[in-house]
Parts: sequence; structure tokens; C-alpha cells
Amino acid sequence: MTVENGRPASPAMHVLPERLGEVEPLDAPAKALSSVAGRIGPGALKDALSGTWLGHALHPFLTDLPIGTWTSATLLDLIGGEDSERAAERLIGAGLLASLPTAVTGLTEWADTETSDTSVRRVGVVHAAANVAAVALFAASLAARRRGSRARGKQLGLAAMGALTVGGHLGGHLSYAKGVGVDQTTFQQRQTEWTRVLDDADLADGDHRAVQVDGVAVLVAREHGRLYALANRCVHRGGPLADGTFENGCVTCPWHGSTFRLADGSVVHGPAAYPQPVYDVRVEAGGVEVRARPA
Ligand code: FES
Repeated sequence: MTVENGRPASPAMHVLPERLGEVEPLDAPAKALSSVAGRIGPGALKDALSGTWLGHALHPFLTDLPIGTWTSATLLDLIGGEDSERAAERLIGAGLLASLPTAVTGLTEWADTETSDTSVRRVGVVHAAANVAAVALFAASLAARRRGSRARGKQLGLAAMGALTVGGHLGGHLSYAKGVGVDQTTFQQRQTEWTRVLDDADLADGDHRAVQVDGVAVLVAREHGRLYALANRCVHRGGPLADGTFENGCVTCPWHGSTFRLADGSVVHGPAAYPQPVYDVRVEAGGVEVRARPA
């Protein structure tokens, strides 16, 4: 392994997903998966699956259920003894039930990643395949146990945990290294001092503009004589809100249709699950000034 500045340049846990991201043959299944995921268009179902109603991305929340139940079942298999065999079966069954909504929410989230970011699309395909393998193996494990083949059921359970571990690791990479499902404004350094961004005369009523404040793009809009300012980068996947549509005191993102209230950044429609950061805005000495609104 190469070492730079005393640190490994390619930590082992990072190598697998990085290499998978370079495997071009994965583009074909990614395209097929996209056509399935694309059937869930903007609307109530998409909002429900994205976690808009919850105020939090739903997929990571749901993954705790199959991972938790299946890990517990495996521990019971390893150290629980005969008394815990029924409990292990129930945990496997519960994990299987939870795996369906978990998979659908993951597919919805992956569908909104940029098609241009091929590494995310490819790693997502392998993440899904590993988890499907885990589901199939746990289902086979449960079936074996029900037939009375407990030893076989436990072996299949261990194999399933292996697939689940690979799938979980790749899912973690997509979130922690690639930012899928993360509030896309979270690392923006927002200016808290009043900053002049344009001349008041340059923003007519009904007009909007993307301006830069210390390197951060801010959307400034004037509607019915009132000024509004929001982060221009959409919290969902980073779309430019200034290129979206403005209607009824709201802005709709041009990328996947999330709609935010200009007054407070709240989410009217998803798939965004987090509110859009909002700025205070005023007119001072003929200029429009903004500053980050304290949380
Ligand atoms: S980037 Fe997806 S809705 Fe804005």
C-alpha cells in the first residue's frame, strides 16, 4: 500500500468501492435499474419514499431494521444456544419484511443521483445486488430452519451476513464518501455579517438572481414587493434553484422538482427531506444586503 505523509493513500476499505466505481460493464445494469426507478416520478409516493414527510431521508432510517434484526439473529445462532432458535427465526422473518420498503427507498434515492457520476451509479448497483443476495440467502436460511435443517439454516445465515456486510459497506461509502442522501448545503460556510450583494434598482419585482456571498451562491428574489433569500444550492442533490420556476411564493428546483417556500425555506414537495437554508435580507443605502439567518 502506498503511504503519503505517514497515512495510507488508499485505505483497504476505500479500495473496493473506488475500484467498483471504475467497472464500466456495470453501466448496463445501472441503466436497467434506472428505468425501473424512474417510474416513481415526482408526487406523493416519491415524497413518502424520500422521507419528505419525516424531515429526514427515509432510506438510512429503514436500513437499521434489517441490519439490526439479522445481526441479532446471527448472534443468537452463534452464542444463543438451542433456546434461542425460535427467536432467531422470528428476527430473520422480521428482517425480510423490513427489507422490501428499505430496498424501494434506496432505489428512489439512487435514482436521483446524477447520471453523469458513473462511479455512484455503479457502486449503487453492486450495493443493491449484495443486499438482494442477502435477502435471498436469509429467505433460504429461514426456509431451511422451518424444514428442520437448523445447521443448514445457520450456514446460510452466515453467508447472508457476509453479503449484507458488503452491501452495508458500499451503502456507507455512497453516503459518507459520495454524499448521497446528505443535505447538500451542510458544509457551506454561510456569512453571518450583512453583505451587500447587488443594487436595489437591479432587482425588479418578480425578478430573481443568484449572487455570490463569500463563495456561496445565494438566491435573491423579489415577489410582490417583498425580498427573499435562500441558499441557491438545493439541499437534495445540489440543483441551482435560480434556474427553477417561481410560483405562489415558492421556488421549484429544476433537477427533481423539490419545492421550497421562499419565506422560510420549508419543503412543500420533495424529494428533498430537509429545509432550504434561509438568509435575512434587507435594503440598506440603495443596496440589497443578506446574511445567514441564525439556526
Ligand atoms: S437537486 Fe433534486 S430536487 Fe433539487
